[in-house]
Formats: sequence, C-alpha cells, structure tokens
Amino acid sequence: MKVEIARQAGFCFGVRRSVDAVNALLAQGKRITTLGPVIHNPMVVEDMRARGAYVAESLKDVRGETVVIRSHGEGRAVHEALRARGLTVVDTTCPFVARIHARVDAASRAHLPVVIVGEKGHAEVEGILGWVRGVPGYVVGTEEEALALPEMPRALVVAQTTTPKARFEAVCAAARQRIPGCEIFESICKTTVLRQSEAQDLASRVDAMLVIGGRNSSNTRKLFSLCARLCPRTYFLERPQEAASLPLRAQDTIGITAGASTPDEIIKEVVTRMSELDKTITPQTDAPVEAQENVQEPVQEPAQDAEFAAAFEKTLVSIRPGQTVTGTIVQVTDNEVCVNIGYKSDGLIPVAELITQENHREAYHVGDEIEVEVVKVNDGEGNVLLSEKNIVSRKHWDALVEKFENNEYVEGTGKSVVKGGLIADVDGVRTFVPASQLSERYVEKIDQFVGKPLKLKIIEVDKQKRRLVASRKAVLAEESAARKAAAWENLEVGKTVHGIVRRLTDFGAFVDIGGVDGLIHITDLSWGRVKHPSEVVKPNDEVDVLVLALDRERERISLGLKQTKPKPWETAQVNYPVGSICEGKVVRIVTFGAFVELEPGLDGLVHISQIAPTRINKVEDVLKVGDIVRVRILDVNPEAKRISLSIRDAADYGDNAELPEGEDMGLGELPEEL
Ligand code: F3S
Repeated sequence: MKVEIARQAGFCFGVRRSVDAVNALLAQGKRITTLGPVIHNPMVVEDMRARGAYVAESLKDVRGETVVIRSHGEGRAVHEALRARGLTVVDTTCPFVARIHARVDAASRAHLPVVIVGEKGHAEVEGILGWVRGVPGYVVGTEEEALALPEMPRALVVAQTTTPKARFEAVCAAARQRIPGCEIFESICKTTVLRQSEAQDLASRVDAMLVIGGRNSSNTRKLFSLCARLCPRTYFLERPQEAASLPLRAQDTIGITAGASTPDEIIKEVVTRMSELDKTITPQTDAPVEAQENVQEPVQEPAQDAEFAAAFEKTLVSIRPGQTVTGTIVQVTDNEVCVNIGYKSDGLIPVAELITQENHREAYHVGDEIEVEVVKVNDGEGNVLLSEKNIVSRKHWDALVEKFENNEYVEGTGKSVVKGGLIADVDGVRTFVPASQLSERYVEKIDQFVGKPLKLKIIEVDKQKRRLVASRKAVLAEESAARKAAAWENLEVGKTVHGIVRRLTDFGAFVDIGGVDGLIHITDLSWGRVKHPSEVVKPNDEVDVLVLALDRERERISLGLKQTKPKPWETAQVNYPVGSICEGKVVRIVTFGAFVELEPGLDGLVHISQIAPTRINKVEDVLKVGDIVRVRILDVNPEAKRISLSIRDAADYGDNAELPEGEDMGLGELPEEL
C-alpha cells in the first residue's frame, strides 16, 4: 500500500490562529467562552472543554469575562453586544473573513443589497449576514437559487471563503441575469482553492482517497464531495479509529487530505493506524514512496504553516497613519470610495477626502489604482480611513517648500481677510500674506484681493504647523527691479522710445518708458512756448520720446518730446508758402505790430501797417493777445527766422489768392531785435 498526503491538509492559517489563541488563553489559566466551537472538529473541541473552555451557543450563554470570537467571525451586533457587556473580547476572525465583513458593511452603508454565495446557516455566512444592515441580504448556494433572486439594479456579491471557485463563478453568472449591476467580490480563500485543487489532483490519481475532518465541517464536506467525483472509493473519516474498518487493499495507492479544522495529530494518527494495516505506508507528501513503520513526522510540517503564515502576513501590509499606500478601487458609493490596500480591512475614502468630489461616481472606477494616505488604521468601526486629498496636498506642500528653497514664485488665490492680512490658497495650502506684504504701497482695502489670482513669494515656512507666509510686495519689487534693469539695458542717448505719461509737475512730465521713469522738461515738450506741461500732454498719454541724456549713477533720464518733431523753421517755407493764407493766434503785441503764432515755435509779425486797410494809431485798438486772425504769408526767411504776415491782405483776398502785381508789401521798418 502506498500513501500520498496532500500538502495542504489540516489546519489552515485562520483556524490555527484561533486554536493557538484559545490554547494560549487556557495555558494562562483563563476561564474563557468561545462563541460556538472554535473549529469544526469534535475531538479538538472536547479537548478544549476539558481544559476549561466553555462553548456558548448564544450570547446569553456567555460565561466568564473573556470571550473568543472564532475564525468564522461574528456579525456587527454581536461585537457591539459584547462590548456593551464590558467583556474582554479576543477576536480571532480570520483576516480573510474580516475583509468580507468590511466590504459588506461598506455596501450596506451605500444602500447596496448583498448576496452571499455560500451555505445557508453556516457560521461564517451568518457572521457575514450580520454585517448587512438596512439593505436586503441573500444567501444563495446554487445557480437555481441565484436565478430565483429578485431583480435588482445593483448588488454586492461575496463568497463564503470555502466556496469552490467553479461554483462561485457559475452562481455569479446566474446572479448577473437578475442583477445587471453586480459588484463581485471574489472572496474565496486561496488556501481553500489550493486545498481543493490538490485534493482533486490526488483523487484523480489514487485508488482510494481518505478525507479527514469533522462531519460538521463545511470545507471538509466540500473536499469530500469534490474528491468523490473523481475517485469512487473516497472515504470520510472523522476519527482515526475509523481507518481500521476501511475496505482498503494492499496494492492500493491511498491519497489523504484533510479539512481546515483537522489538527496535524489526527492526520498523523490516521497514517499511523494505516501503517498497522500495511507496513508500506509512508508520510512522504510529494511522491508516493514505500510507507514506513512508526511514522514520526507530522503530515503537514509546521514549517509549511509558518511559511504560509509568514507569506500571509506579508500580503497583509502593515500600515500606519500618515503612510502612503497604493490600492485598487473595489467599490464606489455615494458617500465613499472603498479601496483594497492589501490590509485585512479595506480602506474607505470619504467623498470629502477625494480630489474630485463633484460627480465622484463618474470620476472613480472600480479596478482603478489610487494613491492614498492612511488617516486612521481603525476609524472605530474597523475600517481603515484614507484620504486622497492629503496625498496631493503633501505633494503640493513639498513642491512649495522646494519653491521656497529655490526662491521661486508661486500662484495663489486670495481667500479671506484676517487680522493683519490676507489668507491665500496656494495649491491647497493655507498661506498668510501680511498686509504690509500685499503691495509696495499701503493697502487700504485688503478685500480687493479676495477671489483674485496672486503671484506670491514664500518668505516663511513653518514645517510643523504646515503654514506658509508669503509676500506679493516682494514679487512686485523684484519684477520692477527686473524691468528697470532691462529698461536701462536698452536705453541709449539719441534713441526714440515709447512711453506713457505718468504725472505732471510744473517743470515737466514724467514718462514711464518700460520700468523706469524719465523726465521731459517743460522746455523739451514743444518747440513753442509752454507755460505748463498740461498744455501739451496729460497723464496716460502715450508718447514717443527721444532720450536726451542718461545719468546711470543717479538713475536720471532726460527725455525730449519736441525733439521727435521737425523744427518749425526747417519746414516753414514748405508749410507756409508766400501768398498763402492761414490762421494764427495773436501772442504778443508790440508798438510796431503784433506777433501771430502760426504753430508752436513759429511766430510771424504783422506790421502795424498790415493790420487794417486804414491807418491805425495803436495796435491794441484793433487786436488783443489771444485773438485768432487770418493772415496772408508775405515773406518767409528761415535763416533770419522771420515771417512777415498781413491781416489786411488776408481780408482783401480769398485763400491762396495771388497778390496784386507790384503792390507794396508795406513791411515798414523792422526794429533791430527782429
Ligand atoms: Fe481563513 Fe481561509 Fe482558513 S478564510 S479560516 S484561512 S480557510
């Protein structure tokens, strides 16, 4: 007889954890109550009873002060009731099961009905049902039962951890016909899948298959039924003594597997008893070899279990508040996004902690990866509280600190006026801008910056309080210095530049020529006489000016406006041909005549004899300063800067009329100063 034992036989990680916890408590001499048998194995349970563990069938039945919740887990109400009674609760719910509780709890809060694929009345299934609150919860074991579900738009579908994968998939396919929006949480425990597939593999190769475990153990019964389909001579053993009566033959190859609640000792005893039937039995697990007498090694080596536990623990990443983790979105509800972060409980991101809060159901999708920060490992209800916003604000904070260190500007928006300044939002970080730092000049109304974009320079960073102090004034000052430097760079005497008149004084006009102000002296405003600069320019006028002089040390720039225009005497002959008639303004009256301004800087003389058709005694009898008069050009002498005009002739003849031939121009004698 050859014997081959499945690697995954006996206690699974979750069951071993529960059993070890009970044994440790009993070893400390504690009086404990287990809520139901810790495992589905009567022998083990009896042994525990004998050592002082009381098995309660219900909450009312609890004795002592310490209560152990077994690996199957319990519903929320049970946890609350135990807490309310002030009992010490040792919760050994298998982490795989705890994850299902968390998902179901989240679904309930999202008003999502729950469908559990599993065995009605099974303790694990009842425990899961205990987390369904305020929404319908259904337990289905077959495709027919799934097809009998009421029609629902959406529901969460989970599996009892020991459900065979093929059955779960078939039931899910049927459930989809009733529930188009199924959210499937494939919560089958991998240990179970592995145990079942190894058992099937073994059953298909051996002559007889032994399945060891409690008859009340669901996973052992499932193992048995899977093996029996492949090996007709499959036998169910609850106690090692039953091996003696099995119809086994000497030439048989025997396969052995065991349910998750079967201790190593029982498997080992079965093997030992079989060795008494046939001296060729061996505990070798990988390949059938000749069996040996007095098998000493346990069937499932402790190392394997330790390995599994270690591997399992590895998968359950440890987390701490403030840690950044990447997870996968497993559910999106109206109030939160549920994320699998590889921890025993899924994490929840409340909508307020999402980056995209508007239409979040459209922005976040199941299956998407998401980077989050752990806010609380346990929010008081067993959930991990996460935040996506914190990640982004931490990144923004780091980027802002980097900008501070690199002396770079940041963009913000004015949010509110506070005592002493303004609060601005800079990439989600609250930033204080003191009133004195808002502008280069005193700011009377700080609220003018609320809602406005602001270019700021961070001047102080409080890493502990995560607060920034920033200055707009520093930006303005630096920008103005840069503009000034660039303007000076481009300036040279003799160059014409464009500028804007900023302000006027009695002695001239200040013009901004791109970062620096230059002065147009009153005498350089016009070729004509100017009493006040306002006669020529006004603030905000755009002007082209000539750079007359630069004093880089004293930062003084002299500009000329009149110099950009031709000198009137240079064009006088062209603009005022002899004989033509034009208008002018009387600007000065002298005894021998009146000076009439034809244009700024260009005056002509109307001799007293040319003022009226008849002789006049005094110029003032006919003209006064400021009169606008029509004059005929009698002569233009640019060299001598003299223009002779006649009002009398302009009155006698129309515009551009020819002078009468040989007529005396009547210039009279001009005084020396002319
Ligand atoms: Fe847990 Fe899987 Fe065992 S769910 S109790 S490790 S079968």
